[in-house]
Amino acid sequence: MDLLDAIRRRRTTNGPLLPDPVKPEHQRLLMEVAGRAPSQLNSQPWRFVLVERRETIDAIAAISGESMTEAMSNGTFFERYKPYFRFSREEMQRRRDGMLFDRLPAPLRPFTGQAFTSRGQRLMNTLRVPQTLGAENRRLVAGAPLLLAVLLDRGEYRPGELSSFYSVFSMGAAMENVWLTTVELGMGIQFVSFPMEVPGQWGRIERLLEVPDELELMAVYRLGYLPEQQRRNSIDWTSAERKLPSQYVFRETCATPQEGWDEAAQAAPRERD
Ligand SMILES: Cc1cc2nc3c(=O)[nH]c(=O)nc-3n(C[C@H](O)[C@H](O)[C@H](O)COP(=O)(O)O)c2cc1C
Repeated sequence: MDLLDAIRRRRTTNGPLLPDPVKPEHQRLLMEVAGRAPSQLNSQPWRFVLVERRETIDAIAAISGESMTEAMSNGTFFERYKPYFRFSREEMQRRRDGMLFDRLPAPLRPFTGQAFTSRGQRLMNTLRVPQTLGAENRRLVAGAPLLLAVLLDRGEYRPGELSSFYSVFSMGAAMENVWLTTVELGMGIQFVSFPMEVPGQWGRIERLLEVPDELELMAVYRLGYLPEQQRRNSIDWTSAERKLPSQYVFRETCATPQEGWDEAAQAAPRERD
């Protein structure tokens, strides 16, 4: 596959993955491309744990689902992230960033305007939306044949020092290589991030993975092959929209936005299919 094509087709997978095990040669390839990423002074600060053991995946799925229910019902999730949520195409078109919640269960639709008020929160809790979503999240994570834990060498990650920024930057490069390669392999990938939102839950995953003191668990992903027909979750979003070049590219100084590229950017393919 052409590199540009893979970059344009790369997506986050919100929906289910096929249960089929990820072929060993594909796992090896994903780790090879991760290891080929650039890093500060060639420090290669990343470490990876490939998890296929059913009990571990189920345990992490349970932690993830519980964490989602907790973060959604106590309001912390909406409070932290509401600046990124869009509930109409018009808003998305105007802002060109964030996530558009274009799929909501029917009982919730009339209340999207109040989603972030305390009344909206009470309504969601009454309708047990956090429980429904948590159970769905648990199923999604448990349905993955492969989890990938990404760890940083704490020797390279010294908060307050430049090394810390460089090492996280390097890890981003490694993960982008992995992400792009999943496109080539017909795979999907998604962060499993809710356990980070709830105190104590990340530590439970660290213990399951026997993370030693010299490493820091930075991210967990679920991976697997994509089904032909991708089913959507009961609450789902799209985030294929991107800012126009005139909104994020400048010429010579920050005072001069790039001109003349927006039309071509709008014509470029954005969706996976
Ligand atoms: C640092 C980082 C953290 C992210 N965290 C999550 C996450 O917690 N859950 C999730 O589903 N996607 C997560 N994403 C994926 C973004 O939501 C996604 O990249 C963005 O909405 C654009 O959509 P796309 O990847 O389909 O192009 C994360 C991406 C990055 C780079």
